[in-house]
Amino acid sequence: MMRGRFISLEGLDGAGKSTHLAFIEGRLRGRGVDLLTTREPGGTPLGEALRGLLLSRGMVADTELLLMYAARVEHVQSVIEPALAAGRWVLSDRFHDASYAYQCGGRGITRARLAALEEWALQGFAPDLTLLLDVPAELAAERRAQARAADRFEAEDLEFFRRVRDAYLERAGLNPQRIRVIDATRAPAEIQTDVARLLDSL
Ligand code: TYD
Repeated sequence: MMRGRFISLEGLDGAGKSTHLAFIEGRLRGRGVDLLTTREPGGTPLGEALRGLLLSRGMVADTELLLMYAARVEHVQSVIEPALAAGRWVLSDRFHDASYAYQCGGRGITRARLAALEEWALQGFAPDLTLLLDVPAELAAERRAQARAADRFEAEDLEFFRRVRDAYLERAGLNPQRIRVIDATRAPAEIQTDVARLLDSL
């Protein structure tokens, strides 16, 4: 049995993840890929319960990171890894790079502490490909303003999202093979041309 591929999609709230997630699903299914689409935090019954807490309830930054990771470990061991082992592909709306961006960049947890947790929890497990939809914090905020009511993260200020974006780009610089940065300020059709090319290389 050929092991499946694991793809994650990342970007600021308002970068256009939902639109492009649907495109990616269509592209892969069109190729005959047996695809499981999932999200973080979430992806399991326990993870979805933790998501409810994470998006609504105030907590200190370390708790936020640990709950993100509790949901992630549950997700990897009970859903993602078994699917990949069975030859299915997995597409996740966010994965561990979001913790680097939001909890380190946004909340100020040190990279060293995150690295220790990441190694303990994931033991080297990572996506085969990560698509980072990159937009400036200002543009993401404008797009969010036209959408639904803000959750606990989306209610953060521009400075928070500037730090999140910088941390995503820093992480991409450290993992240039895995993380592909896509200029998501452009028209959807142009973005999708790039996304299609990257997917077809998998
Ligand atoms: P998001 O995919 O934006 O959900 P939705 O599109 O429904 O709003 O994810 C929810 C939030 O969780 C988002 O603001 C980023 C945050 N988040 C972290 O802070 N760290 C993480 O590790 C993950 C996975 C998400």
